[in-house]
Amino acid sequence: MTTTVTPDLSVDLAPHNRHGLVLANPVIGASGTVGYGVELNQAIDLQRLGAIVCKGVTRYPRDGNLQPRLGETIAGLLNTIGLQNIGAEAIVRDKAPIWATWNVKVLANISGDTVQEFGEIAAIMDGVDGISGIEVNIGCPNVEKGGLEFGTDPVAAAAVTEKVKSATSLPMMVKLTPNVTDIVEVARAVVSAGADSISLVNTFVGMSIDVAKRRPTLSTITGGLSGPAIKPIALAMVYKVAEAVDVPIIGLGGISSAKDALEFIMAGASAVQVGTANFLNPRACLDTLDEVRKLTRLLEN
Ligand SMILES: Cc1cc2nc3c(=O)[nH]c(=O)nc-3n(C[C@H](O)[C@H](O)[C@H](O)COP(=O)(O)O)c2cc1C
Repeated sequence: MTTTVTPDLSVDLAPHNRHGLVLANPVIGASGTVGYGVELNQAIDLQRLGAIVCKGVTRYPRDGNLQPRLGETIAGLLNTIGLQNIGAEAIVRDKAPIWATWNVKVLANISGDTVQEFGEIAAIMDGVDGISGIEVNIGCPNVEKGGLEFGTDPVAAAAVTEKVKSATSLPMMVKLTPNVTDIVEVARAVVSAGADSISLVNTFVGMSIDVAKRRPTLSTITGGLSGPAIKPIALAMVYKVAEAVDVPIIGLGGISSAKDALEFIMAGASAVQVGTANFLNPRACLDTLDEVRKLTRLLEN
């Protein structure tokens, strides 16, 4: 699918969905790095972004993993937050009414332990004011299949997509894990199963060891690597997937500047998400957006 960014920067990320998902611009705050948007909205003009994706929502509240849950690496961040969140019902009750008053669109990032649970969460979100779309995180463990991630198996990835599609009419973006041999195969499977768009990538499995303590940095030993270290790999995956499927692609992985964002757009993405960069600079999304505007004008002239 060719890039759909228009001169005014607005973009439809679900052209085949009856609601559509039209964003004022293609810069989105990534899940897990902007919380529920409420605190960040007090610090920066969040409303100017195309959208934000909230922290991953599960069927019931979760406390997340034990500390330590974060570790810095030379060019990236390792995390093992473990989907700490307030649960689907509290999202609808406490956060969605706030989001409904905002200009910026909010997408709910959802994670299930089973295919059935993905459907239940999607049904709870369906038709809720303030939730403009769903991002389905298939990079989480499939409890029925011994903890193997849904997104590493095209059949399980398609089953989750179909379940969510049948539970809600909300635009549905499926977020791919990069921890696979052939990401194109998974992308094709979720598009055939009804994904309105695809976001990629989630974090790469990584680890680091504190040599002085002779212990892994993270409580769970391995975790997810994000940030500049993963950008070239993410970019190659976005390029391959964009060549192979006919739905909008949302690119992410190590984006911290407009130049990074434009690389993803030139590789075939219709929009981008900014993640880890928000921890270094809370204005990272806005700075990226402002620079994208300037650079786009320059490239047009
Ligand atoms: C602390 C942290 C928490 C995250 N939580 C989620 C999450 O709940 N759901 C999800 O789909 N991705 C989550 N992610 C992954 C990011 O949304 C993003 O896919 C990944 O970090 C790559 O982008 P980046 O390099 O710009 O951060 C998380 C990332 C970080 C660093």
